[in-house]
Amino acid sequence: MGKTIVLDHPLIQHKLTLIRDKNTGAKEFRELVEELSMLLAYEVTRDLPLQDVEIETPVCKATTKALSGKKIGVVPILRAGLGMVEGILKLIPAAKVGHVGVYRDPETLQPVEYFCKLPTDIAERDLILVDPMLATGGSAIASVKFLKDRGAQNIKLVCLVAAPEGIEAVQKAHPDVDIFVAAVDERLNDHGYIVPGLGDAGDRLFGTK
Ligand code: URA
Repeated sequence: MGKTIVLDHPLIQHKLTLIRDKNTGAKEFRELVEELSMLLAYEVTRDLPLQDVEIETPVCKATTKALSGKKIGVVPILRAGLGMVEGILKLIPAAKVGHVGVYRDPETLQPVEYFCKLPTDIAERDLILVDPMLATGGSAIASVKFLKDRGAQNIKLVCLVAAPEGIEAVQKAHPDVDIFVAAVDERLNDHGYIVPGLGDAGDRLFGTK
């Protein structure tokens, strides 16, 4: 079974409170989502491999550590996932970015892929799949499947707020995928919103409604 890691650093909790507040406007909301994504990325990349490098400091020669060049891909689930990309790229500027778009067919209720553009070498990359809200888990489960169908081997799912139902569904469908979240909320309401949540993350990021 995949792990669910709740990243409850004080800075993360504070910024999360600010984005939950309905009086936080789109500009501040976007900035905070970027900052939160950066803080999550710090923890998500904790196991990146290192190698020794020889350098010269102003004082002497030294053997120190540097990333060994593991390739990373960041994949936002459209559209709200876009808000998390810049923050992650600030920490991992060499990562490539793919995009996945999924909608739910109103008749079959099955997730349908409407957009998928990925780096060609995704099989060699550690993928960080991002979506601020993990509600029912439907989009995340479908997106992980689309990535695996194209050869992805190593996927981490990174969200800001999750419902217990979504976590359980993703863990059941994809036990090899670890989930990183800033908070696990109480439940989903009848409209599929996370409670207490923060409302519609896409609308709040892009000022739509
Ligand atoms: N998607 C959102 O943006 N918010 C929710 O609460 C649930 C799904």
